[in-house]
Amino acid sequence: MDKQLINEILTAAKDGHDDQVAWRRHLHQNPEIAFQEHDTTRYLRQTCRELGLSERKLNMKTGLVAEIKGKRKTPIIAIRTDIDALPVTEQTELEFASRRPGFMHACGHDMHMASILGTARILNRFADRLPGTIRFLFQPAEEHPPGGARPMIAAGALESVSAILGLHVDPHVPIGKIGLRDGVTMASVTDFDLIVHGRGGHAARPQDSVDAIVVASELVAALQTVVSRHSDPINSVAITFGRIEGGTARNVIADHVRLTGTARTLSAADSKRLPKLIKRVADGICRAHGAKAEMNLIASYPVLSNSAEVNAAFRRSFESLYGKGKIVLTDQVLGGEDFACYQEIIPGAMFRIGIRNPKIGADKPWHSPYFIADERAMESAAAVLATTAIDLLTSEAA
Ligand code: NI
Repeated sequence: MDKQLINEILTAAKDGHDDQVAWRRHLHQNPEIAFQEHDTTRYLRQTCRELGLSERKLNMKTGLVAEIKGKRKTPIIAIRTDIDALPVTEQTELEFASRRPGFMHACGHDMHMASILGTARILNRFADRLPGTIRFLFQPAEEHPPGGARPMIAAGALESVSAILGLHVDPHVPIGKIGLRDGVTMASVTDFDLIVHGRGGHAARPQDSVDAIVVASELVAALQTVVSRHSDPINSVAITFGRIEGGTARNVIADHVRLTGTARTLSAADSKRLPKLIKRVADGICRAHGAKAEMNLIASYPVLSNSAEVNAAFRRSFESLYGKGKIVLTDQVLGGEDFACYQEIIPGAMFRIGIRNPKIGADKPWHSPYFIADERAMESAAAVLATTAIDLLTSEAA
């Protein structure tokens, strides 16, 4: 890539770092959970205005879409950040720790927001040279399926967009490095409730009842055969029940039990089959005991699969900025991410930005109340996003 341009971007990124830290700390102190991001949206709107971005109409209560328009309207490259926090009580003792008890940016979405605001700050300098438009998507509710990506898409956020870029902080990747992976990287998510309808009665007269707790217990165990016996062992599948509710008292046989579950897989084909398989096993077990199974699909995210072309642009950009040997292969995980919803429509990729630095405690897992990030990561995140966006815009426009 053009050396002069790379140097300009590196300088602009360095200049913007203090702003990024200020934005990030403000957002970190004021976390809001999924679809409640009102103050966050106001702050983002204000900051985008100060940066000279133009806001694009979005008919949603939270979230924001803003643009930097270059010499031409199209092509358009989108850059997405999530904006929601988690219901976690922060225990880091940082000077800028959450001021809202019970809520915390424990997944780094504050870092993501400040990173793409930093990208906007850099790209603004190049606005008159951009052969198209850069659109910034500030998306609500990544942490809470059905998530904010689908409503953003329905509201037209991807209109005329040729490709989309995303990022996620990674406490496993050392500061100064990034992680990439082509193709399937994160799992599909199928969230569901199973309700076992039995027939309540006296604890001492099981013969007159259908004990929903006994049936549910068998069901929990039997459903693991969907993983071990009904899915291709080459593909990874996980079925987890995070919550079971049923019964009222020691001497009363439970009338019904609710199982709150989630199914994950890296295989798009398995993902389609999972609800049917779960229902089939549930029906069979329940019928064997005279109970009835009811299944409610709550929400789903598709498999996240990164575009090799977009990743190649990330790689070129990062190596031009910071040299070779600093890109690691991202591990596949059964976590879900609604960035996958955008990838169903247009090519897109997420990169992992290294925030690991044990010296400052930045080695705790995502969602931990002790989650800490090395803030220097935001500078390189902004630079690589800006460079990649220009790279893709230029090749789309050619
Ligand atoms: Ni996250």
